[in-house]
Amino acid sequence: MTRGPVLAPVALAALAVLAACGDDPLPVEELMKPETCQACHPDHFREWSGSMHAYAGDDPVFLAMNAKGQEETGGALGGFCVQCHAPLALQLGLTTDGLNLPDVPQWAKGVGCYSCHNVVEVTGTHNNPLRLAMDQTMRGGLRDAVESPAHRTAYSSLLDAESQGSSAMCGSCHDIVTPAGVHLERTFSEWQETIFAHASPLRHVSCAACHMVPSTDVIAEGPGLDVPLRPYGRREHTFAGLDVALTPWPEVEGQLAAIRRDLQAVLLPRLCVVPADAGRIDYRLDNVGAGHMFPSGATADRRAWIELVAYGENDEVLFSTGVIPPGQPYTDPEALGDPNLWMLGTPTRDAQGQPTELFWRIATIDHPGTLLPPAVTTDPQDPRYYHAVERSFGVPGLLPSIRRVTARVLVRPIPFALLAELMASGHLTLDLRDQVPTHVVGGSVLEWRPGGDACVCPQGPPCP
Ligand code: HEC
Ligand code: HEC
Ligand code: HEC
Ligand code: HEC
Ligand code: HEC
Repeated sequence: MTRGPVLAPVALAALAVLAACGDDPLPVEELMKPETCQACHPDHFREWSGSMHAYAGDDPVFLAMNAKGQEETGGALGGFCVQCHAPLALQLGLTTDGLNLPDVPQWAKGVGCYSCHNVVEVTGTHNNPLRLAMDQTMRGGLRDAVESPAHRTAYSSLLDAESQGSSAMCGSCHDIVTPAGVHLERTFSEWQETIFAHASPLRHVSCAACHMVPSTDVIAEGPGLDVPLRPYGRREHTFAGLDVALTPWPEVEGQLAAIRRDLQAVLLPRLCVVPADAGRIDYRLDNVGAGHMFPSGATADRRAWIELVAYGENDEVLFSTGVIPPGQPYTDPEALGDPNLWMLGTPTRDAQGQPTELFWRIATIDHPGTLLPPAVTTDPQDPRYYHAVERSFGVPGLLPSIRRVTARVLVRPIPFALLAELMASGHLTLDLRDQVPTHVVGGSVLEWRPGGDACVCPQGPPCP
């Protein structure tokens, strides 16, 4: 059975909601429920219902980690985790520490429509400093919204994908400073260093501009509504990143499709096989698509790695690195017996210097670690202008036998080791290992064969 936000038959729901709409907007309690919006914004609702924003308060890994954290800190963690994963439930007093989330009504969990569209002020840069108006007005990027029978509308730069203010809205939840003062997730502060955070509105690219792709649909539909097609159409609400729901949940296929699309555009690769050093393979990766590091966000947990294989005449493997089969955990290079392993992430350690992914134990984070940096300057004279990263793999004496070299980047949002740790302590009861995706970063895939150029790349030959 599929849990999560209910996809009610839209026409019926629309009639019921419209019937409830009199001359006044619906009461605040109704506007806090995403299901209310489904009547007139069915596509926004459908996409959002599969997003990690909708899943944030149901995610079993989140629930297990929060429970373990509350236990290990004697409750000192308090509302720290739910302030972002179930902000409305916390504000309404439906939870204080997230331990009762399974009993909290579905509409109050996760990051719902109201948690964004009712924001009136951003008072900080991290740990969700968003203030809600708690009124009947839905804020967005339109200055001339047609009248809605369900809610009042207002323009807000904080909800305008064309405005820098909207990055402060998204970003202040996508930047975490732990109670111990560790700057653990930094998507927002990374973005602030990039060319996309430019002061000029003409050059500025917000989080929403990249993550909420416009499409040519009307914004609202339903009986009696006469809504024009807007220049930017409707903006996608999948909020696809790397995570997918690990338990039965709506729209998993839609999420995976959006993730595949976004991963196609993030990296620009180049693969060269050169005679230098008696034979060498060079693989270069340029983070051209992300407005922050790649990967970003929960980089204490997630790892991307480079898989590179050289084959001989009979397809036998002559050299390989980063071959980690789907069901196998990634660990350090020594444990894998792979001294060449190129892994992207930010190792985190506790006060004793031991590796840990548990927020409340983390004392240090090696940021930016091996993350791939984004574009931070448009000035070719600036040494940071060229931000591609290249690694060389020695294959001495092998060049004459090599018939094919394949290279690609893989990324897995959560480590099996974390799941195992949460299961061992009894906080996680489901074995979710097989549900964790290992994505291929589509745009990174290259194959080289002898007889042509030394280098292959999507723009070549010849490769720049
Ligand atoms: C009865 C129909 C109906 C319902 C229910 C409804 N809306 Fe709307 N909404 C509209 C209409 C009509 C517009 C105006 C569209 C336009 O002008 O293109 C609109 C516009 C908006 C806008 C844009 C405002 C702006 O100025 O940019 C947002 C945001 C919005 N709605 C959010 C919501 C949310 C969140 C919910 C659920 C709490 C919801 N709506 C429920 C009909 C509805
Ligand atoms: C994480 C924050 C966030 C959440 C959650 C969210 N939205 Fe939005 N929404 C935005 C932003 C940002 C825009 C872009 C506004 C713009 O630039 O016009 C937007 C735009 C809209 C619009 C205006 C038309 C458009 O597509 O640009 C509507 C209507 C809307 N959202 C409805 C919803 C509904 C309904 C839900 C819940 C099912 C929802 N939103 C959840 C942030 C959010
Ligand atoms: C109220 C806090 C909050 C706001 C505001 C917010 N987010 Fe999120 N976002 C979250 C949380 C919490 C998650 C992770 C949920 C989970 O995986 O359990 C998340 C997940 C995501 C993901 C998926 C990450 C992954 O690895 O799969 C993307 C993409 C994203 N948000 C983009 C945005 C954008 C764009 C905006 C602004 C329009 C925004 N967020 C605003 C809290 C927020
Ligand atoms: C120039 C376009 C662009 C901008 C601006 C941008 N992003 Fe991204 N973002 C991407 C791409 C491309 C990816 C990689 C594809 C993926 O993970 O789905 C990504 C990935 C993510 C992820 C998934 C985590 C990961 O490891 O990569 C989150 C969360 C996210 N972005 C949030 C944000 C927030 C918050 C902002 C604003 C502070 C922002 N993004 C600005 C393009 C952008
Ligand atoms: C400042 C807001 C914020 C706080 C506080 C916060 N989170 Fe998150 N959490 C996020 C965002 C944003 C994401 C999505 C990260 C991304 O993909 O970039 C996320 C993702 C996650 C995930 C998804 C799996 C993964 O790592 O990819 C888990 C689990 C999680 N958080 C657990 C927790 C726990 C446990 C706490 C408290 C100790 C916590 N979070 C506190 C914002 C927050």
